[in-house]
Parts: sequence; structure tokens; C-alpha cells
Amino acid sequence: MMFAGKRIFITGAATGIGRATAEYLAAEGARVFGAGLDGKEGKILAGRYGENQLIFRESDLTVEADVQAAIAAATERFGGLDAVVNCAGIYPTGKRLEEVSDEDWEGTIAVNLTAIFRVCRATLPLLRAAGGGSIVNIASVHADATVPGVPAYAATKAAVVGLSRQMALDYAVDRIRVNAVLVGSVATRMTLDGLEAAGGAEALGLSFEPNRIARIANPSEIASAIGFLISDASSFVTGSAMQVDGGLLARLL
Ligand SMILES: NC(=O)c1ccc[n+]([C@@H]2O[C@H](COP(=O)([O-])OP(=O)(O)OC[C@H]3O[C@@H](n4cnc5c(N)ncnc54)[C@H](O)[C@@H]3O)[C@@H](O)[C@H]2O)c1
Repeated sequence: MMFAGKRIFITGAATGIGRATAEYLAAEGARVFGAGLDGKEGKILAGRYGENQLIFRESDLTVEADVQAAIAAATERFGGLDAVVNCAGIYPTGKRLEEVSDEDWEGTIAVNLTAIFRVCRATLPLLRAAGGGSIVNIASVHADATVPGVPAYAATKAAVVGLSRQMALDYAVDRIRVNAVLVGSVATRMTLDGLEAAGGAEALGLSFEPNRIARIANPSEIASAIGFLISDASSFVTGSAMQVDGGLLARLL
């Protein structure tokens, strides 16, 4: 029970990596408060646990009032927080910069970056009050190396790394560690829907061969890495951008 007694707030917790993380942490004894857009999926997830272990609240984290309400509900339920995982994100594809509207650009920044800023702003006082804590922000390999047609996504994921690194400096004094995760390809709705819309990996000339493990990741393999960054096993790790990408970024050719 690695996380017994830990109170953890997770965004995007109803599906994919967020859901796998919520399940992993709950299985290790954490009390998890999930927030995200997918109310139906979130309800099914929470229904498998007791109210003391995993709660889900439908929230649009691009709306400040929803961020505030979710965090107030988590605080009311758990009496505070020990860790935060920012997983919510969107992956708009297929447009070069000239084709991106203001609405698309701002919409991507709102979910992938501003929501993280707001969730951190609202939860930092709670982590400080708990005597310290850990924040894990889910970035992507796109922060370092990207593909055609995703200007807003690549920009936001690089910004998440910069934001995490900067926060690590400001909040070390409060014993709050902040790390980003550079995630490679994972078998979630985000990846599979994108591939399907494009006619499949082969139609794009893609394979998972470029990562050295030569397969797509299971969401649980990202969840356990996030767990490490939350746990005391990573007590000297802050300001890092940890690659969990099957070796993708390590490869030059
Ligand atoms: N799947 C991959 O290959 C991959 C690779 C690198 C990084 N990532 C990152 O991992 C994170 C999780 O993605 P995933 O792969 O699990 O996909 P996913 O689509 O299953 O999860 C994204 C979650 O974000 C939530 N969300 C979206 N907009 C929201 C909003 N406005 N308010 C609240 N919640 C919102 C969705 O409801 C969903 O639960 C994302 O940040 C993504 O960029 C994924």
C-alpha cells in the first residue's frame, strides 16, 4: 500500500492515462478525487470504488469556476491534498499553423496549459498546508520532437515542461516537488481515435518501430511512472522532464 493515506487530485481521470493512474493509486491505498469532462465514464469508474476511495466530479477545467468547485469538493471530502496529477488534455491534429483559427489555438492552450496553471494555483496552498507534496504534469514527447500538423499541441506540451521546471524552483521551499512526464504513444482514446480518423497507422506511414521497445504503451505503464513521481521514492526528483516513451526520444535515426 504505497499510497496509503495520500489524498490525490487527478484531472482527466475518467479515461486513458488519467483513469489508469486513478486505478493504480487507488489500488495502492490512495484516496483519489478525479475531475474531467467525461461524466459518464467517470461515474462508472467511481462506482467501482467506495466514496472514501475514489470520487469523480464532472468538470470543464477550462472554466475557472469548475476548477474552484472541484478543488473545494475534494478538500471538503478529504480535508486536504498531498498530490496533484494534471492529465487532462486534447490533441487537435491535421492543421499547419496558417490553418489554425484563433478559436482552435486558444482552445488548445485553455485545456493543455491554462487548466494546469489554474489547478496548480488553486492546489498549491493545500499541498503547502499538508507540509509538502508532489505535482505531476503530463506533457508529451512533442515537447522535444514533434510531427507535422500539430502546432498548438507541440507548443502547449513544451510549455508544460517549462512551467513545471519553473514551479519546481519557486515551490521547493514549501517541500512541493513538480515534475513533467514526456509521454510517448499510449493506447488510449486520444491515440486510437486520431489514428482511426487518419485511416490507420499504415495510412500515415507510421509504425511504433521508432521507439526502441517497438510497441505502443499500455496506460498502466504511464500510471506507474506517475506513481513513482508522487511517491517518496522520488524524494530528490524535482524540476525534471521524465521520458516514458519506450526510448523514442533517444533515437537519432
Ligand atoms: N495517448 C498518448 O499517446 C499520449 C502521448 C503523450 C501525451 N499524452 C497526454 O496524456 C494526457 C491524457 O491523454 P490520454 O491519452 O489518456 O487521452 P484521453 O482522451 O483518454 O484523456 C484525456 C482526458 O482529458 C479530459 N479533458 C479534455 N478536455 C477537458 C476539459 N476541458 N476539462 C476537463 N477534462 C478534459 C477528457 O475528458 C479525458 O478524460 C493528455 O494530456 C495527453 O496530451 C497522451
